[in-house]
Amino acid sequence: MIDLHCHILPGIDDGPEDLASSLQLARHAVASGIRVSVVTPHMHSGRYENQASNIRSAAQQFQRTLDAEGIALQILCAAEVRLDHEILSWVADGHVPFLGEWQGERVMLLEFPHSHVPVGADKLVEWLLKQGIRPMIAHPERNKDIMRSIDKLLPFIRLGCLLQLTAGAVAGAFGEGARARAVDLLGKGWVTVLASDAHNLEARPPELEPGRIAAAAIVGEDESWNLVRHRPARITGLKAD
Ligand SMILES: [Fe+2]
Repeated sequence: MIDLHCHILPGIDDGPEDLASSLQLARHAVASGIRVSVVTPHMHSGRYENQASNIRSAAQQFQRTLDAEGIALQILCAAEVRLDHEILSWVADGHVPFLGEWQGERVMLLEFPHSHVPVGADKLVEWLLKQGIRPMIAHPERNKDIMRSIDKLLPFIRLGCLLQLTAGAVAGAFGEGARARAVDLLGKGWVTVLASDAHNLEARPPELEPGRIAAAAIVGEDESWNLVRHRPARITGLKAD
């Protein structure tokens, strides 16, 4: 399986603080059936000042350590980009690392604030689309506005945004509200991928399989594999084996 959203690099955001913890997460990912992790550190103005250059070098260094440790995990890198007006300059300056491509467009993992969907977010998405960038909305099932009303998500679906659900949320690890919304979105056929959004071993571990199994009960076995294997492979340009 290919995990398109996780925070397992040491000391770069609110993921693991040190290399030993990162290696534990990587070992856990491999043990749970993940063979590629796309690390997606937060790019969040004023909190996590990451950009493509430092993320890439940290990911390369981590890959070398994994190889030396004999941990069979391939690391690719992107970022989880917080919705902010600064995205315009980040894109213009080439600071955003993308997840890959979808139908010829670059895919950006875009995060809304957890509390709400900001006014004007659709305008920013329209601007991104004009730049040939297709947003993938991170964990909409955990956004409070979208949990209250699925209508809040409709403008973004109509614009063609991709959706990433948290695998653990589908399995119920983020509460009944998030699980119910995740089930709704899967039932509508709007979900592009499941990803772990791993931060640590305790509350947000690097696991996809519990979510895939829960999703299979809703969308069927074949589509459940599309969510964790085939579509992530298509986006990253890797083989889905
Ligand atoms: Fe995340």
